[in-house]
Amino acid sequence: MISTRRDFIRHAAVLTAGATAIPALSFADIDSIEDASKKIEALSPLDAAAEEDFWFTVQQAFTVSPNIINLNNGGVSPQPKIVQDALDRYNRIANEGPAYYMWKVLGDARENVRRQLAELGGVSPDEVAINRNSSEGLETVILGLNLKEGDEVLTTTQDYPNMMSALHQRELREKIKVVKIKIPVPCEDPQEIVKRFREAITPKTKAILMCQVINLTGQILPVRGVADMAHEKGIEVICDGAHAFAHLDFKIPDLHCDYYATSLHKWLSAPFGSGMLWVKKEKIKDLWTLLADPNPQSENIRKFETLGTRSFPIELGIGTAINFHNGIGAKRKEERLRYLKNYWAEKVVKIPKVKLNTSLKKEFSCALCNFTIEGWEPAVLQEKLFNDYKIFTTPITHDEFKGIRITPHVYTTLNDLNYFVSAVEKIAKG
Ligand SMILES: Cc1ncc(COP(=O)(O)O)c(C=O)c1O
Repeated sequence: MISTRRDFIRHAAVLTAGATAIPALSFADIDSIEDASKKIEALSPLDAAAEEDFWFTVQQAFTVSPNIINLNNGGVSPQPKIVQDALDRYNRIANEGPAYYMWKVLGDARENVRRQLAELGGVSPDEVAINRNSSEGLETVILGLNLKEGDEVLTTTQDYPNMMSALHQRELREKIKVVKIKIPVPCEDPQEIVKRFREAITPKTKAILMCQVINLTGQILPVRGVADMAHEKGIEVICDGAHAFAHLDFKIPDLHCDYYATSLHKWLSAPFGSGMLWVKKEKIKDLWTLLADPNPQSENIRKFETLGTRSFPIELGIGTAINFHNGIGAKRKEERLRYLKNYWAEKVVKIPKVKLNTSLKKEFSCALCNFTIEGWEPAVLQEKLFNDYKIFTTPITHDEFKGIRITPHVYTTLNDLNYFVSAVEKIAKG
């Protein structure tokens, strides 16, 4: 049992550096993280969010380029060096004799990753499948539910395109019906969202697909409120956790949903192409797999992992990313991400012509925030920010709103955010 954050960091380093000569963190790195964390141990996560000395140490764990300012960490996150090193090491081990080392040695170790993921999500390992990303997990559910012609699936106009495509495919192929509601931008009334879902339900509604955090604006949705309302009517809830897992400090059972999928290469900073699907125990049997398993109606969550040959090194790297995440502390990380978002957003919102598409109240957003400058198309503004300032952002053009999405990460410095704010100021002034 690893009891303290410091122990987690040491454990992570030993796990990674243990078997080969490739060092994960140097002892100097570990000592500086220990020293830094000693200074903030007595602080609440909220107070620790502003302790630049501690966050400087965290920043040093990444190998990001100083040549661009990356404010699109929502798309995919960089991995700390310790995770990159773990991935390299597992890859080298696999290449010593792939069929033996990958399938017989590394394959067994996946069970430990499953246990770590389950612990992080607050669920049973028997409900956790390791896969490649949110799209794979959510499409497994969307395409695997027993639905017949005329059945309805309810979602929003702001859900992710891949999931809309999966639903659309079922519309074309099996004649199900997809109903979409609008979510106000921004929205500070969770009851309004529950109400909109409730009002769109018909006797034919069988499932609801919704985000925990909308990728376009960072809006946090009341999944639990919607799930409780839906369950009263016998409707299942699929939660898209792509932007919430290892970002917000919560446990999956808090949400009361039936299915949950996430990408671990986003906020957990795990290797690219790593994800997780959680299926409530009693739902596993009736959910069809995306790739056929010999026992399609088995109650074993591993039936969703019959994916053929893939990279076990990537999957094992997840364990190291979890150790790193736990080393920082989930609540402390959430507060730091919200602090960074507030740091720039509270400044730019005071600039004439700038408007936010995201609520700054803590219940409704954390790291992600969307802003606009009057008169600027998102794609043109994104280009301007990159060409003139080397600031990399995400343009969002939606039927109902448009803007630029900004996502800092734990390695983002206040200096970078000051530079970004001054760039917005100059552009807005024309
Ligand atoms: C809300 C949401 N769902 C799902 C996905 C898909 O994630 P992935 O490409 O890792 O499958 C994304 C990607 O950004 C997303 O923002």
